[in-house]
Amino acid sequence: MRVLSGIQPTGPFHWGNYFGAIRQYIELQDQAAEAYYFIANLHALTSVRDPEALRQYTLNGAIDLLALGLDPNKAVLFVQSDVPEVSELCWLLLTGTPMGLLERCVSYKDKLAKGLKADAGLFTYPVLQAADILAYDANLVPVGEDQVQHIEVCRDIAGSFNHHYGETFVLPKAKILDASARVPGTDGEKMSKSYGNTLAVFDDVKAQRKQIMRITTDSRPMDQPKEPDGDVLFDLYRLVASESQAAEMAALYRRGGFGYGDVKKALADAAEAFFALSRERRSDWVKRPDDVRDVLKAGADKARAKAAATLARAQAACGVKGY
Ligand code: ADP
Ligand code: TRP
Repeated sequence: MRVLSGIQPTGPFHWGNYFGAIRQYIELQDQAAEAYYFIANLHALTSVRDPEALRQYTLNGAIDLLALGLDPNKAVLFVQSDVPEVSELCWLLLTGTPMGLLERCVSYKDKLAKGLKADAGLFTYPVLQAADILAYDANLVPVGEDQVQHIEVCRDIAGSFNHHYGETFVLPKAKILDASARVPGTDGEKMSKSYGNTLAVFDDVKAQRKQIMRITTDSRPMDQPKEPDGDVLFDLYRLVASESQAAEMAALYRRGGFGYGDVKKALADAAEAFFALSRERRSDWVKRPDDVRDVLKAGADKARAKAAATLARAQAACGVKGY
């Protein structure tokens, strides 16, 4: 089994990114025969137009993945733009992608609906994502729920290429974690950078505590019991607490007689403990940016070898090589 995923360097990673996607990367690096993970800086270009910010987010993204437990001895970690073969493969795929398939993509439709000016990069974004996946013959793609449609698009594109030119690409499957496919933000909506409702994975501990204390709750009186599932504080707590802590908290909710202030304090404590080791690892990697660059360079070399072989196969299949 070959696992692959990418994450955009559009800002600091938040709990949604970690519990929806990154945690799976780390788990799967031990289970998969091969795992490829990359920082999707070409995709990020569709929203980050400040070159210095993009460079910083890219390096920081790699540092954060390493801090969270991604092990370069087990997984190939690299930056998307360091594998130009993927962009070339993207063109081959674009020529066989129906407009209607991309017009149906929710991520694109959402941005249009929000009044964002669409460019060709945003529109064809899922095709570059398909090239990312197909270039490495990936079988399994760990992502959050919102990316599942893109993996389906990838399967469609690969399937029609295979149908037209003969078996060339491996068809991938998305892998989502049911328990955290959609992590709520501090306002109860889906946690997302674009909604300003995120809890950053590596925020300053004190600042995060304050942010948690400010989460708005309903006006349930102290003595009233409440169903924990679906309550933002509980849903967030469950992610960072142990199973027994979560069970205790659930019982407290059902019994009543507690204030939200206590839950917030428990949430801040549990979050601090949950990310403590990663925080330590991060402060070490941050001091060694050149070592991080070395990891990325070694990763890119491995990734390129794999992507070049797939590209050659696709080029031969569609007739742009061997004339
Ligand atoms: P954002 O929505 O904040 O811009 P991205 O689109 O960069 O986040 O997502 C990166 C990865 O994190 C994707 O695999 C995505 O599915 C996952 N992800 C993002 N937000 C959440 C969330 N609230 N719950 C679960 N997974 C999420
Ligand atoms: N579009 C993905 C996101 O926003 C990032 C991404 C780019 C990706 N290429 C990929 C994810 C390939 C999985 C596989 O999160």
